[in-house]
Amino acid sequence: MAICQIFLKYAMMNIMIFEYALTYVSRQYMNRYLQVENNFSPTDYATPPERPLMLYIHIPFCEEICPYCSFYKVTFQKSLAEKYYDSLYKEIIQWSERGYSFDSVYIGGGTPTVLPEKLAELVKFIKTLWPVKDISVETNPNHLIPRYMDPLKEAGINRLSVGVQTFDDDLLKKLKRYHKYGSGEEIVEKLKALQGTFDTLNIDMMFNFPDQTEAMLEKDLSVLQALNGDQVTYYPLMPSSSVKAEIRSLYGDVDYRKEKRFYKKIAQSLTGSYDRASAWCFSRKGGMIDEYIVDYNEYVGCGAGSFSYLNGEIRANVFSIKNYVDRVDSGKSPLAAGRIYSQADQIRYDFLMGFFSGALDMEILKDRYGRNSRIYLALQFLFMHVSGGVKKEGNLYRLTDRGMYYLVILMREFFTGVNNVRQHCNIIDSD
Ligand SMILES: C[S@@+](CC[C@H](N)C(=O)[O-])C[C@H]1O[C@@H](n2cnc3c(N)ncnc32)[C@H](O)[C@@H]1O
Repeated sequence: MAICQIFLKYAMMNIMIFEYALTYVSRQYMNRYLQVENNFSPTDYATPPERPLMLYIHIPFCEEICPYCSFYKVTFQKSLAEKYYDSLYKEIIQWSERGYSFDSVYIGGGTPTVLPEKLAELVKFIKTLWPVKDISVETNPNHLIPRYMDPLKEAGINRLSVGVQTFDDDLLKKLKRYHKYGSGEEIVEKLKALQGTFDTLNIDMMFNFPDQTEAMLEKDLSVLQALNGDQVTYYPLMPSSSVKAEIRSLYGDVDYRKEKRFYKKIAQSLTGSYDRASAWCFSRKGGMIDEYIVDYNEYVGCGAGSFSYLNGEIRANVFSIKNYVDRVDSGKSPLAAGRIYSQADQIRYDFLMGFFSGALDMEILKDRYGRNSRIYLALQFLFMHVSGGVKKEGNLYRLTDRGMYYLVILMREFFTGVNNVRQHCNIIDSD
């Protein structure tokens, strides 16, 4: 008992014990949990779910490669990208022929807007297959001009997420984005000009670069306040295995104490004017969040290097663009690896995704997995309760401010784990 009291006292003094423990445990857990098998055969596709799912499409081309970026991408080559689009159509048709239906589409990258006309055509084609409500697309600031935006609007793309990362010119230079995407001031002007054009304009930011000072963060926050946009997502720098060495040599070591301090500042600054749609998403649009993995329990990924979560299985497509094109063009599935989750793992996955959106409804888990689902979450709940991470409201477990930061840690470790899988698949399947 006395040991417990001392432990709690230290925790209350905010000395990062829980945060370090959570980082360590979740890193081990995600590494185990996100391990995929190369010779994976998925359960059959014969019984698609009755309700529509989310379709994720990956466009892995960027005009400029950012040294910290851990997502799957290659340098843009027009002819290769055109060939890639042809194969994407074929993979999407495979899903249509299997009887799957989608009501929402998220197109991420890379930079999906490198070929705006091709993107617009693809979106129009998808709309002929399914009655899609929302179409979200990621882009970069240099594409916020009519030449790129007009075809997107015309095709009915209604949510745009702009990778800004920071408005600080020195930091933009260190991230190797300044020369290509412009200065902070130029980006602000472009964002202002675009306001009201899409249902949601999301400003995608990052924090905790080793070179980022508190003054730089405060300046970014005041720019965001003045911009008064629809939505802001703020991700901590995630040093996954593919970029760890590059991040260390260019910027230095990632400091998790600074991450916590900066996150607190971000949350304090933005919660006044935005709703917290999740631990890292601040929205004026009634909690709308452009994050397919959080919004949907199951989703299908199309394109090289994309992931799906279906039937309690995580599945990864091949990474090499050449292999992707070859496989799809010869009528084969581009699936490269995957893993079947046990029921306990599925429950823990749903637990994580539930909290990613800010609150977990135990009734949903009970409906999905039965009364016993709680047993598999005993340790997770114990941690959340003892550390003051959740408060109970009926069947709902809502995150406290402290819990929100725990979720940032879990999200950081989850996406780092996903990116490590990308790296693993990329090694066995490189061009
Ligand atoms: C993969 S990028 C694609 C969109 C666009 N091309 C861009 O450069 O922003 C989407 C977002 O991923 C996030 N991201 C990329 N690498 C990251 C990393 N190592 N740690 C945290 N977030 C990262 C950034 O927030 C970025 O805006």
